[in-house]
Amino acid sequence: MYEEKILVLDFGSQYTQLIARRIRESKVYSEIFPFNALIEKIKDFNPKGIILSGGPSSVYDSGAPIPDLKIFELGIPVLGICYGMQLMAHCLGGRVAKAQKREYGKAELIVEDDSDLLKGIGTKLRGLPPLIKGGNRGGKLRTTVWMSHGDRIEHCPPRFKPIAYTANSPVAAMANKGKRFYALQFHPEVVHTAKGFEILKNFLFKICGCKPIWNMKSFIETAKKEIKEKVGNKKVVCGISGGVDSTVTAVLVHKSIGEQLTCIFVDNGVLREGEAKKVEETLRKHFHMNINFIDASKRFLNKLKGVTDPEKKRKIIGNEFIKVFEEEAKKIKGVEFLAQGTLYPDVIESVPFKGPSATIKSHHNVGGLLKKMRLKLIEPLRELFKDEIRVLGKELELPDEIINRQPFPGPGLAIRVIGEVTRERCYILRKADAIVLEEIKKTGLYTELWQAFAVLLPVKSVGVMGDERTYENVIAVRAVKSLDGMTADWARISYDVLGRISNRIINEVRGVNRVVYDISSKPPSTIEWE
Ligand code: XMP
Repeated sequence: MYEEKILVLDFGSQYTQLIARRIRESKVYSEIFPFNALIEKIKDFNPKGIILSGGPSSVYDSGAPIPDLKIFELGIPVLGICYGMQLMAHCLGGRVAKAQKREYGKAELIVEDDSDLLKGIGTKLRGLPPLIKGGNRGGKLRTTVWMSHGDRIEHCPPRFKPIAYTANSPVAAMANKGKRFYALQFHPEVVHTAKGFEILKNFLFKICGCKPIWNMKSFIETAKKEIKEKVGNKKVVCGISGGVDSTVTAVLVHKSIGEQLTCIFVDNGVLREGEAKKVEETLRKHFHMNINFIDASKRFLNKLKGVTDPEKKRKIIGNEFIKVFEEEAKKIKGVEFLAQGTLYPDVIESVPFKGPSATIKSHHNVGGLLKKMRLKLIEPLRELFKDEIRVLGKELELPDEIINRQPFPGPGLAIRVIGEVTRERCYILRKADAIVLEEIKKTGLYTELWQAFAVLLPVKSVGVMGDERTYENVIAVRAVKSLDGMTADWARISYDVLGRISNRIINEVRGVNRVVYDISSKPPSTIEWE
């Protein structure tokens, strides 16, 4: 394990993940624990400093999240942010005033003491500092910070001193330098706080004494060591889809335990044109690991016969995947572990301040396997974000085509063939989809878009080809821009590109005589049609 780590205790702020993220960007390793983590667990983790995150509660709420107060006796620096600050003030003998109104948005911070936490963050104040209750306190430096709080500190706890203020917060930052306890009313982790990154770095390097030595290389080395220790001489299975998360997981585990890992790729019959073959070729070419490619397409398509309800399709595919995976995993003697590419956003529950707890993505839902086969989980990516996975992928020398691959849903084309999923309808959609992707790649738009794909609609339309009347299928083209898939905007693709896609589909794909472009955003629509 890394020697220099920072622990972030999560009190439910929407920015908690961002704090951990900023720390890793500063080349110090950091992890998030729930606010109520046991003190023994915290001691075992052995952090060089603790950050208390913000959160939606007031310290006066019944059931307000309170950590084990022994964290203040560990002799290490603590930084409280927003709710974390109020909590420190409340627990260490200061006074927190209940909010009359919320303060939200940018504020001018007047720095009174720039000797350590706030070192180097202010510019010279021009004109008079803002007046606050109790008179002007002076201070010669100013900077812009981002506030989002209800309650505020009226009096620091004993041995704390205010080190900055704003017009609305008489104590916008405070410090007990002897104990190395610091607190901020504003959010240094968001980009709207002009020098937020510098403040966090001051905490890490000047106050906790960390060195900026963590990077993806050290992540790989530590992960390899940890996987090896956990697995011993037992065997591991890993399901791979050709996507970046599962491939990075597999390659990392393979680098650690080599032949003890077997990967399983299941062709479920609803993959894209040439996809199974392409994944096999790419993985075989670049990595020399055990990969079992299972063609289970017949089984899946049989199960999907006559089914038109989207949720039923999803369930059938999910359940069948578990069955196939289990059968295949059973064939490998001595398997005790399942490696999964769970990322941080998959781990966090919707009620975060109860603390993060493990949930498994529905499409990789092999939870049943864990119980039935008594498999234990290995999730080496569970602390990382998607873009960090891409950096890790580059470090592991994954080919760009895997690193940059657009997301593809677990239920595959089954939720893009609207209505019944038959071999013929899959065939038509595959051909149209391949044209969409080919044209999008040609224009260099592929990596700019979150996803681009074709959908086969369950309606027929009249057309005319030569002298013949036709009555054939309609293809909808969908292309969206998005940062995380939670919201999305339809892509403003040029008419020329759309025209080429339409012409090619109607000319080259038999059974299609009309192409339409989907101009709906998410919300209120979704990215996939089903
Ligand atoms: P929606 O359609 O909900 O999709 O806007 C958001 C993102 O999630 C993908 N998606 C899925 N991925 N299993 C998956 O693995 C699923 O059942 C599933 N449904 C949607 C979708 O492709 C988009 O990127």
